[in-house]
Amino acid sequence: MTKDLTRVETHFAFGRNWASFADRITEVEIEEAVVGLQRLVGALNGKRFLDIGCGSGLHALAALRLGAREVVAVDLDQNSVLTARRVLAHHAPGHVWQVDKISVFDLSLDAMGAFDTVYAWGVLHHTGDMQRAIRQAAALPAPGGIFAFALYRRVWMDWFWRREKPWYARASSRAQARARTVYMALFRLGLRLTGRSFADYLAGYRSNRGMDYSHDVHDWLGGWPYESILPKEVEALMRPLRFEQVQSFTRKGWLFGREFGFFGSGCDEYVYRRSSALCAA
Ligand SMILES: C[S@@+](CC[C@H](N)C(=O)[O-])C[C@H]1O[C@@H](n2cnc3c(N)ncnc32)[C@H](O)[C@@H]1O
Repeated sequence: MTKDLTRVETHFAFGRNWASFADRITEVEIEEAVVGLQRLVGALNGKRFLDIGCGSGLHALAALRLGAREVVAVDLDQNSVLTARRVLAHHAPGHVWQVDKISVFDLSLDAMGAFDTVYAWGVLHHTGDMQRAIRQAAALPAPGGIFAFALYRRVWMDWFWRREKPWYARASSRAQARARTVYMALFRLGLRLTGRSFADYLAGYRSNRGMDYSHDVHDWLGGWPYESILPKEVEALMRPLRFEQVQSFTRKGWLFGREFGFFGSGCDEYVYRRSSALCAA
């Protein structure tokens, strides 16, 4: 198998997980996605919106609900593309949208034109070359436009996840199911040791992507390729590209500023505005 991690055949089957999740999308999940997206980018009335790595299409749909005049959604995984098309056709008939199978590395300003808002939530760290993916996506907002993205924060356990994820992504369904059982058992134990109950945790469970707990666990354990980044490294990348941070939602851990990451790393969210000066570096 090729070692080029930007190629889809080396990736975890994200799209299969999204396809199985998408049947559960109701107005509740849509409303939560709307609230989550609005918190990052505000109202989108009349805006042209690009969703890179759209997965289920739920957030492309949320962008339409927030008033976007046109939504372009792309994903590298054919199952994600088919799922997003199905979700949008069902929930957003009559709106202006398209879903294309294309990699972030092949997106170009010439072919697509500029966007008022470019959105890539939990995607660029799964592309096999996060820094190149950030630069590529950053070329697409219009001057003064918004680039909102979420990336895994760096945790102490990254060394472990970089070994576990490629194994899980290639493992048989039975081996994956066993891995999920072990993970969930350890998670329950962790909750019990800290005086919390798994049943209460599940009852209140809502991932910010609308997923249920079991789809989320599968996505976390298999999410390969995997990279992570610190907020100061994001800033160092974005400044020379002539972006200014509008807001961010980041978390610092208690262990020398980093979380341990025993059950996962979690995403930090960043919102940047492209300089309105026409000549970007
Ligand atoms: C964890 S999912 C996130 C989906 C969605 N953005 C969300 O927040 O629910 C990551 C998605 O990125 C897609 N992806 C991975 N590499 C990509 C690339 N090079 N170009 C576009 N999408 C990519 C995967 O196929 C997957 O659907």
